[in-house]
Amino acid sequence: MSRLQAEHLYKVFGRRPEDAAARLEAGADRDELRAEGTTAAVIDASIEVDEGQIFVVMGLSGSGKSTLLRMLNGLLEPTAGTVRFDGQDLTSLSDKELRKVRSEKISMVFQHFALFPHRSVLENAAYGLEVQGVPRAERERRATEALELTGLKGWEKSWPDELSGGMQQRVGLARALATNADLLLMDESFSALDPLIRRDVQDQLLELQKTLKKTIVFITHDLNEAMRLGDKIAVMRDGRIVQIGSAEDILVTPANDYVASFTQDVDRTRVLTAGAIMAEVGTVLGSTTPDGKKLGTGAEFRAAAPATVGVDTPLVELFTPCSTSTVPVAVTDANGDLVGAVAAERLLAVLGEPADQDATPGVPAQAAAADGTAARLDKKPAEDGPVDDKPEDKVIAGA
Ligand SMILES: Nc1ncnc2c1ncn2[C@@H]1O[C@H](COP(=O)(O)OP(=O)(O)O)[C@@H](O)[C@H]1O
Ligand SMILES: [Mg+2]
Repeated sequence: MSRLQAEHLYKVFGRRPEDAAARLEAGADRDELRAEGTTAAVIDASIEVDEGQIFVVMGLSGSGKSTLLRMLNGLLEPTAGTVRFDGQDLTSLSDKELRKVRSEKISMVFQHFALFPHRSVLENAAYGLEVQGVPRAERERRATEALELTGLKGWEKSWPDELSGGMQQRVGLARALATNADLLLMDESFSALDPLIRRDVQDQLLELQKTLKKTIVFITHDLNEAMRLGDKIAVMRDGRIVQIGSAEDILVTPANDYVASFTQDVDRTRVLTAGAIMAEVGTVLGSTTPDGKKLGTGAEFRAAAPATVGVDTPLVELFTPCSTSTVPVAVTDANGDLVGAVAAERLLAVLGEPADQDATPGVPAQAAAADGTAARLDKKPAEDGPVDDKPEDKVIAGA
């Protein structure tokens, strides 16, 4: 069930924003407005976030992510468009009503989570409840629970500066969880952390999410983070959402060259699963193996297949079976029923998928994407780009 919906949101900063939004709607271009000193930060953005979902908004610095997020909780008023949370149109609420929704149902976790240095970890975690006017005993009980959930049991009486960066960020998460808000808005919440600590906090969030099932909008400029956390990912560019889909959708069918070049460094073998690339069982049935076995039925195919894997099995685990047999790997669903087949050619084709259809077959995407868009991405300041843990790919991209 969808809990949060934004429809045709626009945010324009500068003179006569409504006029500018109307012009954008009529097809005017962002650069045209910029030349007049007006910034179109978000243009015609529509999203739908389901209950219990982690919805990631990803894009380079300046693409409009934070502006979009601030409109979702009413901190910024949209120039045009609507935001609905639990069916309630936030754009129509009075300031007072909005503040109430914000303090009771929505929590924000920022990148640089400001902890009060002279308050204990417990008092920091209880801060959101204090603002809501929750009595001390109850807020301490709830903050204690939230700290336990985020793995900080035993640190309640410590001071913030006794905690590592990752632990401090978890206090921030605990503060958001303690309020019982159903909607968490997280703006680059993990971006300031070292890579290892960051992975740790990501795991923590995924683990918590299994039981808490919050509705989360998570902003990041890091594609790998987006792929790890996102049930759904929206890719933003220059104020517009250019694609919304699962990590697999974005990798397998990028909406355009920009998205394709953005995703070129992702390790597909770990993100993509057998279920995302499998062919129908029917494509195998009726064939005969080189040693003369007829694959007439699903059972015969399963018996001849080099391996049977689940739909969620990452591709990295398919290489070995695919290399040992000409019969495709069998894929089964959660009930163990046969639902598909992955042949070696398909596996290789997906991993070497060219970014544009005219590119030479077999040439990896990163080489094929070395056009204007790729060059543009390369020019971004290093700290704003997706974390690049495979510098050798950059060399290929620039070649
Ligand atoms: N209050 C503001 N006034 C004017 N321009 C703004 C304001 N806030 C953001 N912008 C501009 O809007 C664009 C999008 O910014 P932002 O939403 O912060 O992007 P991101 O979070 O993706 O880095 C940028 O060009 C930024 O300079
Ligand atoms: Mg931002």
